[in-house]
Amino acid sequence: MRVGVLTGGGDCPGLNAVIRAVVRKGVREHGFEFVGYRNGWKGPLEGLTMPLGIEECRGILPRGGTILGSSRTNPFKLDHGVQQITDNLARDGVDALVAIGGEDTLGVATKLAELGVNVVGVPKTIDNDLSGTDFTFGFDTAVNIATEAIDRLHTTAESHHRVLVVEVMGRHAGWIALHSGIAGGASAVLIPEQPFDIEAVCRHVEARFESEYAPIIVVSEGAVPREGGDMTLQSGETDDFGHVRLGGIGDRLAREIEQRTGKEARAVVLGHIQRGGTPTAFDRWLATRLGLHAADAVAEGDFGTMMALHGTKIARVPLAEGTGELKLVSPAEYAEAEVFFG
Ligand code: F6P
Repeated sequence: MRVGVLTGGGDCPGLNAVIRAVVRKGVREHGFEFVGYRNGWKGPLEGLTMPLGIEECRGILPRGGTILGSSRTNPFKLDHGVQQITDNLARDGVDALVAIGGEDTLGVATKLAELGVNVVGVPKTIDNDLSGTDFTFGFDTAVNIATEAIDRLHTTAESHHRVLVVEVMGRHAGWIALHSGIAGGASAVLIPEQPFDIEAVCRHVEARFESEYAPIIVVSEGAVPREGGDMTLQSGETDDFGHVRLGGIGDRLAREIEQRTGKEARAVVLGHIQRGGTPTAFDRWLATRLGLHAADAVAEGDFGTMMALHGTKIARVPLAEGTGELKLVSPAEYAEAEVFFG
């Protein structure tokens, strides 16, 4: 059997570990041949291939990013996109595909499977917001990086009696903020699922300073102020020279806290640092196991499925289950952080 592999969407530590595991198990145990499709769905769409065998996978386990490259191309948004994909798979003699990706990439895989393409999915995102699986690989690495940043920011915040606002990734879900906030001992965590009250945040800041404690506030990039509790400073506001002064929510929040409380505040935006570099041991372990099971699913012809972590076991769920609704932080899980500003 000839199997194509692709990685789509934002990159994520552990992608290479999945590729390596699928290929090693596929070649050694199932006698598969592999072809690498470059840059997500753009690969099969435009016929962009690369050799993929045990040799190409040597030494990639601890490497961040993806040797296959990635993109956010969606063939369903292009005229004749799906036809081009099926034509190219036939031309390349590819019998089955392993698609490694998040909501968008696996959403495409779901639709292709419904159209009869032999596809198996492996879930990935640092945001950990895919349903059907307990954790996605990449999340643990992102949380560790954010936690280390919070640890470091405590000492400088305390020395200068400042508020430190740390903006972490998470457009729709606050998992990175919640886990790193708890692990790093943040004094407040603001997440997209729970619009925050800016006045309550400022009261909290003042109370913290009364007890000689410099507050660290972790905020997801997708967090928003509660309706009616509008912040005066908007994203993209320009200064007298026309330079954009304010970036995302972290920056806005720090400026707003300064204005309202008179306390000095600084914002740190972690951005893509959370996505780059070597995966943690947990993410390598999870990514490798998902890859091994994906090779088995292909061998068994169990297409239209997504590999998933259920407790400590790798399970298979229908692809649609992983791409239906996003997995969000519940009010009870948020309350555990004891920093509830809703
Ligand atoms: O979905 C993963 C993610 O890292 C989000 O947390 C973030 O909002 C987004 O991707 C950033 O995407 P890009 O790298 O395209 O700017």
